[in-house]
Amino acid sequence: MSADTEQYLVKQEPYYQPQEDEIELYEAAYAERLPVMIKGPTGCGKSRFVEHMAWRLGKPLITVACNEDMTASDLVGRYLLDSEGTRWLDGPLTVAARIGAICYLDEVVEARQDTTVVIHPLTDHRRTLPLDKKGEVLDAHENFQLVISYNPGYQSLMKDLKQSTKQRFSALDFDYAPSALEASIIAKETGIDEEKATRLVKIGETARNLKGHGLDEGISTRLLVYAARLVKRGIKPRAACRMALVRPITDDKDIVATLDHAIEAVFG
Ligand SMILES: Nc1ncnc2c1ncn2[C@@H]1O[C@H](COP(=O)(O)OP(=O)(O)OP(=O)(O)O)[C@@H](O)[C@H]1O
Ligand SMILES: [Mg+2]
Repeated sequence: MSADTEQYLVKQEPYYQPQEDEIELYEAAYAERLPVMIKGPTGCGKSRFVEHMAWRLGKPLITVACNEDMTASDLVGRYLLDSEGTRWLDGPLTVAARIGAICYLDEVVEARQDTTVVIHPLTDHRRTLPLDKKGEVLDAHENFQLVISYNPGYQSLMKDLKQSTKQRFSALDFDYAPSALEASIIAKETGIDEEKATRLVKIGETARNLKGHGLDEGISTRLLVYAARLVKRGIKPRAACRMALVRPITDDKDIVATLDHAIEAVFG
């Protein structure tokens, strides 16, 4: 394995608690080199899952955080001007296709559609990436796989993937784990006891029930982990919850009061 490839390997096992049969399904998709789309709300374990799978399969992982200013060149590559003249620099998608990495495009809907279409020839039978500016058509390495994530709640009509993009992927639906499992994830991840983790999850549930009634999104597993880390450091649970669970998600005074009340009820 070349040094290039080596640097993208996930060296240590990322802790991942499966919810259903997603590991087996992903392995089958990888074996077939099917592109995979991972859908689910923020902080529910999508990125952790992809890191875990890259580790499990022993394949390099290249992650790209997508945004609306991103151009096709940011993914594919560009000529750079330096002291020795112009030099081609591969973008992350091109590097992944060359070395046979799993390329994870995070929040892909954020990218403009004219950017997203560059993945099309990579995600069908062609498995090629045209580097137009360089006049090269790159055949993807046999280990290359494309994975994208997105949060289905957030799109407006303007910002959705085209059907011709969607229909190049297989898809897994993710969501926050059921309470007992989520509590055990938080305990494992942070080292706090299960009893406290269970109480944190209760507060998370209260917030998730307010989704659509003043909250756009409930409290994520990520935030529950933050609260647990503060508690683990010796911060009082009530203060930890206010800081990590409530203040980040809303500016609405009434919702803050409702959630603070829930914290009192659970930890009071
Ligand atoms: N099934 C799980 N196993 C282990 N840890 C988990 C799991 N689900 C969530 N977590 C915890 O939640 C945190 C957030 O997960 P992750 O970063 O994967 O979210 P995400 O779905 O990629 O969110 P975003 O869409 O905002 O990027 C992780 O760092 C981890 O602590
Ligand atoms: Mg993520």
